[in-house]
Amino acid sequence: MKHVTKAVLPVAGLGTRFLPATKSIPKEMMPIVDTPLVEYAVREAIEAGVKEIIFITSPTKKAIEAHFSKNQELENLLKKSNKESCISKAFPKEFDEITFHYAYQYEQLGLGHAVLQANHLIDQDEFFLILLADDLLINEPNVCKQLVEAHHKTSSSILALNKVSTEETKKYGVISFKDKASDISNCKPLSAIVEKPQTNPPSNIAVTGRYLLKGSIFNYLKNIKEGAQGELQLTDAINLAMQDNNFFGIEYEGIKFDCGSKEGFIRANLHVAKTQKINYE
Ligand code: UTP
Repeated sequence: MKHVTKAVLPVAGLGTRFLPATKSIPKEMMPIVDTPLVEYAVREAIEAGVKEIIFITSPTKKAIEAHFSKNQELENLLKKSNKESCISKAFPKEFDEITFHYAYQYEQLGLGHAVLQANHLIDQDEFFLILLADDLLINEPNVCKQLVEAHHKTSSSILALNKVSTEETKKYGVISFKDKASDISNCKPLSAIVEKPQTNPPSNIAVTGRYLLKGSIFNYLKNIKEGAQGELQLTDAINLAMQDNNFFGIEYEGIKFDCGSKEGFIRANLHVAKTQKINYE
């Protein structure tokens, strides 16, 4: 089986819940202690074996491109001021091996529309990861690795799932399972997914911001209509693809912070500050 080597990170959203901060700073560049949210997601993908990161960004969000680019002037300045230890923070060695691509979403028409902008960079039969950086997941092994492992067992598309309360189902993509008899170890076959059900959710199991999908998803993304919140929803394309292809879900182990909300963002900062050895200098 081919390795999963590409990850798509949609980062073109407006981040309206964090205005005024996001007027000039992309939401994904807001730091959890000292590291931008998006860097956690990029590191997670790299640890899972990814070699190409495809950002779907907006032409106005230059800070993300700057963050993942070499900056010889800064590197030289740090060397000159004997701040060698800062160089590995600003320019981690593992990023040297990675190709960063940038595709633009010119209008914020929704997550499905954002992912569609990566169409030209992924083959139809190629499996790839999608990470929503605002879901910060702290797990060992990390959730992308868990998805890749599940893909190796099933040769299929995989969604990362977690339990939510019935009231919370309104905020997420909520799934229905197929017959339990066809489980492959911890991977459960899925039959449908619905975005933000306002009434009668099919379960209380929701999708988290990590997906491992086949490139053929782009055919479905081209055919979806406006869905929940008037946006082109990735969930609707996945639901169509589920009628023709096998999809499995894994209920991952670990902690999730929804950093797209203020509460999740603050909790994530407190958690990382408490659990990691931070140098407060
Ligand atoms: P969100 O809905 O959480 O992000 O999308 P948002 O729209 O930026 O946030 P609010 O609700 O206005 O505060 C999840 C992810 O999908 C990306 C976002 O950047 C975020 O990482 N996204 C969303 C896009 O890239 N394009 C879109 O049109 C919508």
